Amino acid sequence: MDSEKLKELFQQLTPEEKIAQTIQLNGSLVIENEVMTTGPMHDLGLPPNLKIHEIGSIYNVNDYQKLIQLQRETLEHSRLKIPMLFMSDVIYGFRTIFPIPLAQAGSYDFDLIEQAAEMTAKECYQNGLHVIFSPMLDLVRDPRWGRVMESPGEDVYTAKRFAQSVVTGYQGDLTHGLAENHVAACIKHFAGYGAPEAGREYNTVDMSNQRLFNEYLQPYQAAIEAQALLVMTAFNVLNGEPATGSRWLNREILRERFGFDGVLVSDHAAIKELVPHGFAKDEREAAQKGLEAGVDFDMMTSVYATHLPELIKQPELAALLDEAVWRILVLKNQLGLFENPYRGLRTQHTGEVLSDEAKELAVKLVEKSCVLLKNDGSLPLKKDQTVAVIGPYGESRLTLGFWASVSGKPQDTIPLKTGLLQHFAAENLIFARGYNLFDSYEQFGPLKAGIEQLNGPIEPEDQLLVEAVKAAEAAEVIVLTFGEQFMESGEGASKAHLQLPLKQIRLIQALKKTGKPLIGVLYTGRPLVLTQVEPLFDSLLLVWYPGTMGGIGIANLLSGQASPTAKLSMTFPRSEGQIPIYSAQLPTGRPLTDSEHSDRFLSKYRDESNEPLFAFGTGLSYGMFTGEWLESAVLSETIQLDYRIKNQAEVAGETVVQIYLLQRPASMVRPSRQLIASDLVLLAPQEDKEKRLSLPISVLGFYDNQGAKHLSNGTYRFLMRIDQKETLLAVTI
Ligand code: GLC
Repeated sequence: MDSEKLKELFQQLTPEEKIAQTIQLNGSLVIENEVMTTGPMHDLGLPPNLKIHEIGSIYNVNDYQKLIQLQRETLEHSRLKIPMLFMSDVIYGFRTIFPIPLAQAGSYDFDLIEQAAEMTAKECYQNGLHVIFSPMLDLVRDPRWGRVMESPGEDVYTAKRFAQSVVTGYQGDLTHGLAENHVAACIKHFAGYGAPEAGREYNTVDMSNQRLFNEYLQPYQAAIEAQALLVMTAFNVLNGEPATGSRWLNREILRERFGFDGVLVSDHAAIKELVPHGFAKDEREAAQKGLEAGVDFDMMTSVYATHLPELIKQPELAALLDEAVWRILVLKNQLGLFENPYRGLRTQHTGEVLSDEAKELAVKLVEKSCVLLKNDGSLPLKKDQTVAVIGPYGESRLTLGFWASVSGKPQDTIPLKTGLLQHFAAENLIFARGYNLFDSYEQFGPLKAGIEQLNGPIEPEDQLLVEAVKAAEAAEVIVLTFGEQFMESGEGASKAHLQLPLKQIRLIQALKKTGKPLIGVLYTGRPLVLTQVEPLFDSLLLVWYPGTMGGIGIANLLSGQASPTAKLSMTFPRSEGQIPIYSAQLPTGRPLTDSEHSDRFLSKYRDESNEPLFAFGTGLSYGMFTGEWLESAVLSETIQLDYRIKNQAEVAGETVVQIYLLQRPASMVRPSRQLIASDLVLLAPQEDKEKRLSLPISVLGFYDNQGAKHLSNGTYRFLMRIDQKETLLAVTI
């Protein structure tokens, strides 16, 4: 619809219809027995006169028939036939579930990440979704927080590249609006949700403006520059104001500084929560503050519906409501919903999912997201070895991670056993559960029976341990699958203790006693504290939550068909006491090295090392790559860094090269090292290649507490990291 016609439509809206457009409800509230009802809605205290067919959006309905039903009823009953907007928590895949974002980011294959996002968008489009609540772009440096699993990790550069790839993959080229097989990205959670004090869910976030501008706001800004069409607010307080109610954050920064003119959605009940935050004296004031902050949708509460009718009697608030509703209509128009309200939906069948192309893409992303943390040569496995595959993940399908279940199905998952049988003879594989993945199924409530049916009955732990040791004794090598279960991370899953459960430690020790090579395959949504058990493993492969095709991709790595290339996207601490611990730390005035002070008076612990167990950027491969700097050149707006890299192996191989900027004196203290570039290099056997990285000179700059950018001439030092070796280069600009 052209803008003039859209404006005419907008001008016909009554105040009640405008308010209704700002309401977003979970679809479960508006559908009962396949039809839209208002019944459960009123559990939310929505006003009885609210016309359900006039509300602006519902979310988390992923069944195409229900979506058709919802849209058909909306068009039949809406006075002006304004289509409903369908949104959903699709975070890393619709039905083809890819590895969790914390894993994907470590692949540094941003083209592949974009392809996976595009495939996700295609599956969403063909099943009727318009907007998906991702990518989540909260920088994270505290593994006690359960939502690190859906983040691209601790590093600014990595998170920015991830943001650009996923937004572009979802939305495609917007020149002519959103094309078919593409959906709108709703990035989240604006802002700073990933830095809660003590790692405690929904807790306070407080940091300097320079840290916001230089680090935590960067990934959101990159997504907005990639034209993300929606943003979701955050639950947390940021520097004394709840993010959802902050005019400074949502108007001055998001809309004015970043130039975002899209739709701002509150997180679940976040406007209403301005009251318990103590930022609004009642829900009426919360509604006013949400509107004044520029929040366009009130997700899942009655605050806007109840209080806006009175509030908009004030002309300035009426004008803010008009702005909000206009942005919502513009988005619906960008999606082409007025011409095609059943966008992407097929009336007779569900859209295409789990295609061969999608599954192949997922296998590749699994292979590129798993991090080889340690390897004494026990990996890759040899073809004719007898392998004891111990641990619940040998056969479990529950490897999708916390957020996959909104649209994903564990039944689709290929277990590790299936993958291994593609590489090893059945008689050479001995499976033993080793320990129960869940201590109880009670936590799953109504889903209990289904999960138990899928994962098997709980058995006596002692018996499982005995069987595991017996299997190990009968084999030449042990592959132990261990770690967290998917409900231990995600939303509402902060943990103060990050060690493995005692039963897993006991099992690892018992298996070590058999004297057989012990290979660990770690499933987890967060960095864990593995300090006690790490020395017992000969090799350790971190697979995070690998998604639908995890079993195939992991087996390809264990067998050597594929070689690991991924790098750690988040630091693994030696103990919780070190947290927050991350790569881009400041050196302090009393660093451990090069300090004139005596040992006691250095920045250190008396009872722990300063070093992590596994540092950000760690990641081995089966190959061997070496490199050296060549020429560098400084042009007007770019720095050219040339380097040579050689594949020392007799087989082709791929590796991730990382370039760090080292600290130099400046008006604001800068990190000791800061990742500023990466390069994914594929080399033939023994191939020696010259490569060039052209970086914008702005990458050397930084912001001060007033948000002003600084960049000065001088000598800059760069560190190139190939495999685990680092070489230094100095460049003067
Ligand atoms: C949740 C999450 C958010 C999600 C939203 C809708 O509380 O914080 O990430 O998109 O509600 O389910």
